[in-house]
This record gives sequence, C-alpha cells and structure tokens, in this order.
Amino acid sequence: MALHIGAVAPDFTQESTEGSIHFHDWIGKDWVILFSHPKDFTPVCTTELGAVSKLKPEFEKRHIKAIGVSVDPVESHKKWIADIEDTQNAKMNFPILGDSDKKVSKLYDMIHPEWNDTLTVRSVFIIDPNKKIRLIITYPASTGRNFQEILRVIDSLQLTDSHSVATPADWKQGQDVIIAPSLQDPDEMKKKFPKGWKELRPYLRVTPQPDK
Ligand code: BEZ
Repeated sequence: MALHIGAVAPDFTQESTEGSIHFHDWIGKDWVILFSHPKDFTPVCTTELGAVSKLKPEFEKRHIKAIGVSVDPVESHKKWIADIEDTQNAKMNFPILGDSDKKVSKLYDMIHPEWNDTLTVRSVFIIDPNKKIRLIITYPASTGRNFQEILRVIDSLQLTDSHSVATPADWKQGQDVIIAPSLQDPDEMKKKFPKGWKELRPYLRVTPQPDK
C-alpha cells in the first residue's frame, strides 16, 4: 500500500553501519530524515552523504537524526565510508542501513521498477517524534538532493506545529508567516500575534514569525 503523509512510519529492524537498528526505538523523541540512495561507490551519493554529515550541528539544534539506506550490504557501506570521508572532507556521523534483503526499501516503496528493478531511488522521508510521516519526496538518481530545503521544511513543520501559522512560498527562518485561515477570533489573534498582522485578503493575513 502507498505511504501517505500523516501515516505512521513503518517500523522495522535492520542492520546498519552502527549495528542493528529497531527503527521506532531509534527515533525516540527526535525528528528523522530517512533517505535512500541507489548504490554505494557512486558519485552523486558520495557527495550527498558528505553533505548530510556536515549538517550535524544544524540537526542537533533541531533534534534531527539522519539515517541512510541502500540495498548494498553493511560491509560495502563501511568500505565506501572511507572514500566519502576522504573526498568530501567530512566525518560520517549517522548510520546507513544495509538493506540487502530489501526489507526497508519495500516497506517504504523505494524501488521504482520503471526506473530500476533492484536499486532504490533517491527517496526522502521526514518523520516526526510521534513517528508520523510528514514529508515524502522522490528525486531522480542523477540529481543530488538539496538538504537545505529538507532542513527548511523541518523548520516550517516545527514552527507550524506549535503556532497557528503556515509558511509561504520560499519561506526561510525569520521571515513573515501566514496566519492559519481557521483562526478568526480577533481576541485570540491579538494574544497569539502581539506584533500585529496585515490582512491582504480575508484568507491571506501575514504576521512576523511569532517565535522570533
Ligand atoms: C550516483 O550516485 O552518482 C548515481 C547513482 C545511480 C545512478 C546514477 C548516479
């Protein structure tokens, strides 16, 4: 069955470069970026895993853990990690699942046979601390992912989960946000948005980011 935003992320136990992982236990109270790559020892994937390692300080600020997956075995991942660290000037600091039996790839629909029968595509899942899927993106094999965009989405999710707002196109931390259309009571709005707001249309009201 297709996975949807809002569904509980399927649980699994699988081997990784950091030992056996029971996914829901491993998530704990954190946000998770689960991302698949087609194959070890390939150029785009090498740059991606280096880029994700370098984002560790940004992940820590937001309580995010990253976890990679491909159908290559853990032993292969471990050999490849030496190349990643050498060429990307990065120290690997998150686990990669060795999904040789395709348990995780199948659970998360990461194999798209119209592209390739056996390899995983470049999938990304953002999973929240309640183990719910909050974002799904699939990239083609030839396009390295924009992990700044994935961080930006987590910033938006963390903000909109705790305030009655949504974020506009191309929003970044610190920029104005949109008041949720469901919020209509003026007294409640004044309490929630003491800096005020601009009503461009009754359904489009913008306010400074409330937690800044
Ligand atoms: C890569 O990571 O470079 C790659 C992997 C599979 C197909 C094409 C490119």
